[in-house]
Amino acid sequence: MAVGIFDSGLGGLTVYRAASAALPDVPFVYYGDNAHTPYGVRDDDDIYALTIAGVTRLFEAGCDLAILACNTASAAALRRMQENWVPRDKRVLGVFVPMIEALTERHWGDNSPPREVAVKHVALFATPATVRSRAFQRELAFRAIGVDVEAQACGGVVDAIEDGDMILAEALVRSHVDALKRKMPDPEAAVLGCTHYPMMQEVFQDALGSDVTVYSQPDLVAASLSDYLSRHPNMVGSGEERMFLTTGDARRVSDQATRFLRRKIDFVAA
Ligand code: DGL
Repeated sequence: MAVGIFDSGLGGLTVYRAASAALPDVPFVYYGDNAHTPYGVRDDDDIYALTIAGVTRLFEAGCDLAILACNTASAAALRRMQENWVPRDKRVLGVFVPMIEALTERHWGDNSPPREVAVKHVALFATPATVRSRAFQRELAFRAIGVDVEAQACGGVVDAIEDGDMILAEALVRSHVDALKRKMPDPEAAVLGCTHYPMMQEVFQDALGSDVTVYSQPDLVAASLSDYLSRHPNMVGSGEERMFLTTGDARRVSDQATRFLRRKIDFVAA
């Protein structure tokens, strides 16, 4: 009974941590495509091919359900995968919708027409590919009207986190927040639209100021996954082993992951 979690690298571990705390009995299989990270600077065809390779490996590991714990893959590849590729008995879900439902005060399955919501000015921080896709704005427009979104492509942050260079990551986050604030001086809410960014959440919050509500995905995705599995218990696949798979250097990735999660994590070659 395994559920797959896919990311281009270490960022999906923020989702893994929240999901495994919410669902301690579910063996999660994590796949980090560390050899090809970052995805945020790749083109859509490339992201599509790499995401399919990773999700295929998760299906082979006994998962029937894979979570794309990667906004870039969710934005650039998910819809195309669902339309053309996902086998009939499998499911692939992304990470955008739970966050947008929280922002627009909706519950799962509420398909009522878009309506006015409390927040009017939203800052989106994401990778260049996610910003370019406008997937966030598209999903938001299905649910809300009158929300002004200013997106900031945060070049370099994922690379710095993957390299374990948190000093550089912090400097980059502060400069991206400054750039955003030049375009939108007073956002009410900020969305961390990349699963790597929760590792820098305190820096985002500090740079934005305490009056800005920062939405970060891990807990929202974990709650949505618990809800999904309670409605679709058959989607927990046949695999029984927890695993951390990487396309990168397993030893190096294990060290980084152990540092991030503050507990021993052993990655093996995917
Ligand atoms: N953590 C990913 C995301 O949520 C991927 C970032 C990247 O590889 O550029 O977008």
